[in-house]
Amino acid sequence: MANIHIPPGWRLRERDVTPESIYLDRRQFVARMGGGAVLAAASIACGPGRGAAEVQRGPLDNIPDTPTADLYPVAMSDPRFTPGERHGEVSPEEIVATYNNFYEFGTDKDGVWRNVAPFEARPWEIEVSGLVDNPGVYDLVELERAFPLEERIYRHRCVERWSVVVPWIGFPLARLVERVQPRSDARYVAFVTFDRPEQAIGRKSMTWWPWPYHEALRMDEAMNELAFVVTGMYGHPLQKQNGAPVRIHLPWKYGYKSPKSIVRIDFTAEQPPTFWNTSTPAEYGFYSNVDPGVPHPRWSQAQEEIVGTGTRIPTLPFNGYGEWVSDLYGGRVTPVGDVPHAR
Ligand code: MTE
Repeated sequence: MANIHIPPGWRLRERDVTPESIYLDRRQFVARMGGGAVLAAASIACGPGRGAAEVQRGPLDNIPDTPTADLYPVAMSDPRFTPGERHGEVSPEEIVATYNNFYEFGTDKDGVWRNVAPFEARPWEIEVSGLVDNPGVYDLVELERAFPLEERIYRHRCVERWSVVVPWIGFPLARLVERVQPRSDARYVAFVTFDRPEQAIGRKSMTWWPWPYHEALRMDEAMNELAFVVTGMYGHPLQKQNGAPVRIHLPWKYGYKSPKSIVRIDFTAEQPPTFWNTSTPAEYGFYSNVDPGVPHPRWSQAQEEIVGTGTRIPTLPFNGYGEWVSDLYGGRVTPVGDVPHAR
């Protein structure tokens, strides 16, 4: 992955740093308008009939027309996943929506939001396959309505040394896994993302990558209560550049373990290949837990920069979420052999 430069607020209150007005206003606005009206307005602005020349689309106008818009915003949930001293302050949505890694739409972080217009992120189905009792094709709407949506404010730490704090909306991955009933021989869960060169300029032009983007977890990681299936952010459905209509978020792992726009979940007995480990095994492992003690071969991981602020903070083992996940790895942050340079 490319290196980056980013412009602080680790120990401030949420309302000090986050243009919380932006966040709350948007939530209240969406709620007042009944969600759907706002989304309809956004999709009209994006709609092909209007023509790009007539309507200037902004980075916050990339919410697909969502049949479950009535579910947003959701009630604030578990107080363990709130900002503050441990996890930092919520980043402005304008930052999170304009500083993206989503190679299907190019490698310029501030260009992704401009390139997602052709991507049709609804309607959406997820195929569940492999070692499960209930395989099949699930409509995302059915899943969004089956599991209560909750909001979790998670720190999102990229292997490139930048981080943001995002109010994601979704449901625990464990609920979905329980619903499809893995068989006893299922030891891993693989995620495969969409593969549409005609709608994704990066996917079309960068043919050397092992598309589609794919990731995987061990079953006990997938069942950990932190593992989150994300369908929304900042009180509304996901922006396309952030992985609409459905992505995974795993706050104790580097961001590349959190695949966007997933279309298939496969349950396997053997460890599945992953996009970055396949393409650059000397640099990116399978587990990829955030570990300040194991440098990337080309840079230290001891610190990170909070995007949009210029502030640098020490990186924490497991990105600060060790209390939930350290038991999974026998006392280590980076399991032995995960990357060749880890001792
Ligand atoms: N998912 C897909 N399908 N394609 C990608 O290129 N990039 C990953 C991850 N998921 C990626 C992906 C990386 S490297 C990061 S850091 C995060 O998405 C970025 O998520 P964000 O843009 O919402 O911050």
